[in-house]
Amino acid sequence: MNRKYRRPLIAGNWKMNKTPSETRAYMTRLRELLPKGRGCDVAICLPAVCIPAAVRTLRETRVCIGAENCNANPAGAYTGEISASMLVDASCKYVILGHSERRAMGETDRDVRNKLQAVLDAGMTPIVCCGESLEQREVGVTEEWISMQLKYALQGLDDRSVRKLVIAYEPIWAIGTGRTATPEQAEAVCAHIRTLIRKLYDARTARATVILYGGSMNEKNARELLMQPDIDGGLIGGASLVPEKLIQIVETATAIE
Ligand code: PGA
Repeated sequence: MNRKYRRPLIAGNWKMNKTPSETRAYMTRLRELLPKGRGCDVAICLPAVCIPAAVRTLRETRVCIGAENCNANPAGAYTGEISASMLVDASCKYVILGHSERRAMGETDRDVRNKLQAVLDAGMTPIVCCGESLEQREVGVTEEWISMQLKYALQGLDDRSVRKLVIAYEPIWAIGTGRTATPEQAEAVCAHIRTLIRKLYDARTARATVILYGGSMNEKNARELLMQPDIDGGLIGGASLVPEKLIQIVETATAIE
């Protein structure tokens, strides 16, 4: 991380885990454990039905709430979907977009681009995910693949909008597998992402963009990942389900100068 230019962010991604009652219990514990300092931003992205319980329990703390998806349309006949304005009204600050698990369910690069616009227009921060499969890594097309995903996602966005984004690099082979990318592998791709933004925009935008690593990050390996200059935080799945583990990662991030 580089505190001179960017604020670190530790973001949880609960995926399809925990009920509203479990959310209340978790957030109550999180409140007790939360360190006082403001050395890094903290967000938890959770299932939509859990948002009200999380917001209520975390009132007057610095923890922000996020969603795991949203629809690109403002309103209308989209049964089962949730719009960006609904999430804002429910007090969400972040929305994860283009997670590989959602892409596997059919979400396209175009969908990600449209959702990103809806989230930005609503005044929230999109956490845009990208990442290669094991096969793509082995063939040697990781950087090309990441560039393609991000060029689609950022298509037509101006530099001011890009500075509001968070980008999460999540190698698919590292998600939920316990097989973390090495700090060197993660740093290489995060540095590539920053270089891409510099080429597409400018040095100021590249310096300001918060880039997270995600994929089996936990309280044990967080430090060496977060020590890398282009990794500004983590998007954390499994380990974020246990408040003690998430807080340990927050403390680790806070302690890095
Ligand atoms: P994981 O998930 O930490 O359980 O690997 C990360 C993610 O999918 O965002």
